[in-house]
Amino acid sequence: MYLFLVLSLHTLWVAVSIAMQHGHYDMCKTQTKSDEGIVWEYMACQPESRDMTPYLKVKLEPPNSTCGDPPEPFCAMGNPYMCNNECDASTKELAHPPELMFDSEGRNPSTFWQSVTWKNYPAPLQINVTLSWGKTIELTQNIAITFESGRPEKMILEKSLDYGLTWQPYQFYAADCLDAFRMEPKSVKDLTSSTVLDIICTEEYSTGYATHTKTISFEIKDRFAIFAGPRLHNMASLYSQLDTTKNLRDFFTVTDLRIRLLKPATGATFVDERNLERYFYAISDIKIHGRCKCNLHANSCTFTNNRLACDCEHNTTGQDCERCKKNYQGQAWSPGSYLTIPKGTANICVSSMPSNCYCYGHSNRCTYIEVVNTAVCVGCRHNTHGQQCEKCKKGFHRNGSAKLDDVNVCIANICDNELLRCQNGGVCHNNMRCLCPSGYTGILCEKQKCEDTGSCSSKSGQESVSHNLYLITMIIVTRLCTF
Ligand SMILES: *[C@@H]1O[C@H](CO)[C@@H](O)[C@H](O)[C@H]1NC(C)=O
Ligand SMILES: *[C@@H]1O[C@H](CO)[C@@H](O)[C@H](O)[C@H]1NC(C)=O
Ligand SMILES: *[C@@H]1O[C@H](CO)[C@@H](O)[C@H](O)[C@H]1NC(C)=O
Ligand SMILES: *[C@@H]1O[C@H](CO)[C@@H](O)[C@H](O)[C@H]1NC(C)=O
Repeated sequence: MYLFLVLSLHTLWVAVSIAMQHGHYDMCKTQTKSDEGIVWEYMACQPESRDMTPYLKVKLEPPNSTCGDPPEPFCAMGNPYMCNNECDASTKELAHPPELMFDSEGRNPSTFWQSVTWKNYPAPLQINVTLSWGKTIELTQNIAITFESGRPEKMILEKSLDYGLTWQPYQFYAADCLDAFRMEPKSVKDLTSSTVLDIICTEEYSTGYATHTKTISFEIKDRFAIFAGPRLHNMASLYSQLDTTKNLRDFFTVTDLRIRLLKPATGATFVDERNLERYFYAISDIKIHGRCKCNLHANSCTFTNNRLACDCEHNTTGQDCERCKKNYQGQAWSPGSYLTIPKGTANICVSSMPSNCYCYGHSNRCTYIEVVNTAVCVGCRHNTHGQQCEKCKKGFHRNGSAKLDDVNVCIANICDNELLRCQNGGVCHNNMRCLCPSGYTGILCEKQKCEDTGSCSSKSGQESVSHNLYLITMIIVTRLCTF
């Protein structure tokens, strides 16, 4: 007995530790043994985090802001007197198209997108680089934008959650935040759990015309660390925050990102108007890691016909598994939940087709009503009604010797309070008969007992005639419905 306990504790421990290792929510279901045999157990799940750049579309505004059409000279960064470089869109070796922001790094010489130079000075050289996925994704790692030239002196990173319809700033970047955006400079390190959603302006990444540091970051991990600890060892804590705080979840969710390049690196107070070939933007790499947002109902996401879509489980459907499949709308859709680590709660969609017992066989159709979050049987037969056809409709009462799924479950009332009144002071008993006061008889006590007096003044009122007619009709109707 003791050994058994130790063994099962051990087994439990192994199971838990395996589940902890798979705390990435990488399984949507598993088979387990239960009293009813082998059953499926469902779990919250999500796709693995990966490089999301292969799946995006890039758009430049204005569209003609890539250098090289027509060919133009530019100066080497860091050496404004070496201006014999050329950008030529029609020559592969000299072209710098936008795709080069996303090709593999580590090539020598490095490959990069490059903009036109600031030849229209003093008109600002401003370019929007929009990255669109056509799918909601959740960012999991820092966004890193590496500039081949100096980092811009003014830039805004923006995000959209509605496929580019509306935009919100994500972070402001400037050499001088007050001057550029009238914002106090801040660092992500200044943020706390109550200010984690604040949009800040940072000066950390905008200085250095000639430094070796070329990267601009949007710090996802530092924000995660506010909840999960410095080395993200407590992801459970982060997940439970994400579960309960929609704003926080949405903060890391995007459909599009937009890099608004507002002023190139100049490295000086004054713009050198005689050498405008010095000023341009050049981006050699953009890193964006994330995962498809599948509402914790899918552990993979596929890219087909240039479109990302979740491979939905739990009988959900839609690009983000954001609704229940047809015939699985037995209760309101809801996202899976990270809570109850390590497996989470799957919140699977349940069938809205009545199972044998849902409408007790009195209907084979039900409809899901959103406001009350329930399925309701439609067209209950056999004189039943109610959400599950579990009640008798008006004028009928429950047949005590019939089960709920019996076609005879509801029988017509002989009397009740509303429709069929016992007359002359009779009292309705169990909807089946009128208990008549002495002196009266008949189903509804409508007849006077006249043996004694011999002089019955039949009170054949119209009322009792119509009640009798009603009663007969009801009985016929009941019979018709029953068969
Ligand atoms: C881009 O096109 C617009 C309108 O066609 C034009 O005004 C502008 O000068 C062009 N810019 C460059 C850098 O060629
Ligand atoms: C970039 O986008 C912003 C916001 O829509 C817009 O106001 C601005 O004119 C765009 N910049 C360029 C260069 O098209
Ligand atoms: C979804 O529906 C199918 C078909 O009825 C069923 O086999 C499957 O187990 C369901 N999955 C879940 C997660 O409920
Ligand atoms: C009540 O149900 C039983 C079982 O189906 C049936 O035999 C009986 O006839 C029903 N009673 C009436 C009054 O219909």
